[in-house]
Amino acid sequence: MSQTQTLSGASILVVGGAGFVGGALCRHLLKLAPRRLTIVDNLLSADIANVPEHDVVEFIPGSIADDRVLTRLSADLEFVFHLACYHGNQSSILDPITDHQNNTLTTLKLFERLKDMPDLRKVVYSAAGCAVARKTFDTAQATAEDAPVSLIHDSPYSISKLVGEMYGNYYFRQHGLPYVAARFQNVYGPGEILGAGQWRGTPATVWRNVVPTFIWKALHGEALPVENGGIASRDFVFVDDIAQGLMACATNGTPGEAYNMASGVETSIGELAETINRLAGNSTPVAMAPARPWDHSGKRFGDPSKSRHRLGFAASVTLEDGLERTIRWTRDNRSRILAAMRRHARFVPEVKAYG
Ligand SMILES: NC(=O)c1ccc[n+]([C@@H]2O[C@H](COP(=O)([O-])OP(=O)(O)OC[C@H]3O[C@@H](n4cnc5c(N)ncnc54)[C@H](O)[C@@H]3O)[C@@H](O)[C@H]2O)c1
Repeated sequence: MSQTQTLSGASILVVGGAGFVGGALCRHLLKLAPRRLTIVDNLLSADIANVPEHDVVEFIPGSIADDRVLTRLSADLEFVFHLACYHGNQSSILDPITDHQNNTLTTLKLFERLKDMPDLRKVVYSAAGCAVARKTFDTAQATAEDAPVSLIHDSPYSISKLVGEMYGNYYFRQHGLPYVAARFQNVYGPGEILGAGQWRGTPATVWRNVVPTFIWKALHGEALPVENGGIASRDFVFVDDIAQGLMACATNGTPGEAYNMASGVETSIGELAETINRLAGNSTPVAMAPARPWDHSGKRFGDPSKSRHRLGFAASVTLEDGLERTIRWTRDNRSRILAAMRRHARFVPEVKAYG
């Protein structure tokens, strides 16, 4: 069945829908004319401006772990996308309890609330490819959905994402919750606002991910900080592809299964820096920096074959094209991004230098 047939006219909940990926997903869902789109978000790492104004949108501000928020959810939900997390690894290392409250407890309480809803057709959970990838600096193999998973993790964030999958599988087997895991590789694209949301204790509140950080610095003629010789590798997936993949999970995913949301293309951080500098016209050479001591996730990328065969999902935007679009968006939205960054200027004084 097509996404339009399945999702149009449906009652849909997006938890974490004000965030980077959640915001993009909501914009795609609205094109399919749902009956109702409920968005729950406590704006921990997002701005209210990312919540679309639309007749069918109901925004519930607050945590999905809050019983008052859970009680407000309509019992006729048909599709749920759970994208809330405590962003990201560094914040969770600094404050594992807050990570637990917003990344683990959120998932448990949401699934507990959903388990008896009679009209539910799919609950799609945003799982993380980094949590299941083998930790290696040797040649990487594409991570398939059934690859063995280690019990040794670099961050509470990673543990929370894995526990979320375990709860999903438990609620599927015990209660028949129609749960599907969408395992994201590294998402990038327009809409990821550096500094979005509240201060979360480390400069990674501003410099939240490698792509928007490199693009911002490249557009300001700065040396891109390339850690550990740039040898680490990732699988970068454009945000609109991820939105399509999430909707494919809702439409065609089999409950109890996990699907990689991956491009299948491995790119080293050194190559990423060179490409961004070229596309942004930045001639300042990269600056070599030491490896992050906590990060053992050296080289990795995802295997997209199961999603292609079972969901009909394939990432369609090349890295070069996606980066060009993201650079254009960053130029066009510079003042909005700068305003979000400047809210943390007390803690990250370097942002004051951007006039
Ligand atoms: N972006 C990536 O590369 C990537 C990779 C793997 C997995 N993921 C997962 O995808 C999801 C979305 O990631 P993103 O990059 O859009 O991050 P994001 O920080 O932009 O989005 C997370 C959203 O959850 C909200 N939130 C936090 N705690 C909440 C709570 N208690 N109740 C309700 N909302 C809450 C935040 O305010 C934010 O809007 C996350 O679950 C993340 O773990 C992302």
